[in-house]
Amino acid sequence: MVTDEIWKLPAIVSRFLSYRAAIPLAQEQIGIMMSILKVRSRPVEKFLDLGCGDGILGAAILGTYPNSRGVLADFSEPMLEEAREQLKEYAGQLAFENLDYGDPAWVNRMQAEDPFDAIVSGYSIHHQPDARKRPIYEEIFSLLKPGGWFINIEHIAASSQLAVDLFNQHIIDGRYAIEKANGGGRTRQEISDVFMNRPDREANILLPVETQCSWLNEIGYEEVDCYFRVYELAVFGGRRPE
Ligand SMILES: C[S@@+](CC[C@H](N)C(=O)[O-])C[C@H]1O[C@@H](n2cnc3c(N)ncnc32)[C@H](O)[C@@H]1O
Repeated sequence: MVTDEIWKLPAIVSRFLSYRAAIPLAQEQIGIMMSILKVRSRPVEKFLDLGCGDGILGAAILGTYPNSRGVLADFSEPMLEEAREQLKEYAGQLAFENLDYGDPAWVNRMQAEDPFDAIVSGYSIHHQPDARKRPIYEEIFSLLKPGGWFINIEHIAASSQLAVDLFNQHIIDGRYAIEKANGGGRTRQEISDVFMNRPDREANILLPVETQCSWLNEIGYEEVDCYFRVYELAVFGGRRPE
């Protein structure tokens, strides 16, 4: 199995979703994404959530812009099923697309859509080889309206071993707290062993956020920055000029 294909397995999907709350400052990262979008003078009318999972980023956008139309894209049918369920009250204004953005042809499918005011992605593009990441950022740029934003909430390479260790400790503590809250009996060590040996770990291809921001600048995005960072996580992006 190609390593990122692991996301098509229902067991991996359900473990990620049940432990998402253990991600350090996950809600704050979504808050930063929304703060950036709210700076726009116009509402978000059309958005794309790329690698949408259960649609958590799309849900945040719909919460603020309830009339927006969205495309929720993922190559995992179990994830898309979750997204359809979570966002069913907005079904009439959403399209759920099973697509693999690792294949450059994905962009042709999205060109059939109106251009986007916002393209967001959560912990997803890092599954691509580094040589593919930059072309994806170019493809995203081509799909944005002038003035449209790309915001990537992403798993990135930390600069220090300490940051890696703190990231792992934070997640293990969070997963242990969730285990206890759900009445589970596993020890912290057992939780740690599962996390450190998780099968989807191999699917992570981490790259420094600085490299990724310089690519965005070179492609032509403006207002490029890493707007938030904690350990191995970052919220970064930029805007297509008007
Ligand atoms: C860690 S989950 C994050 C889900 C969601 N964005 C979130 O923030 O909770 C990564 C998601 O990216 C999707 N994904 C990974 N590689 C993909 C690809 N090449 N094309 C489409 N989706 C992909 C996976 O199926 C999975 O739903």
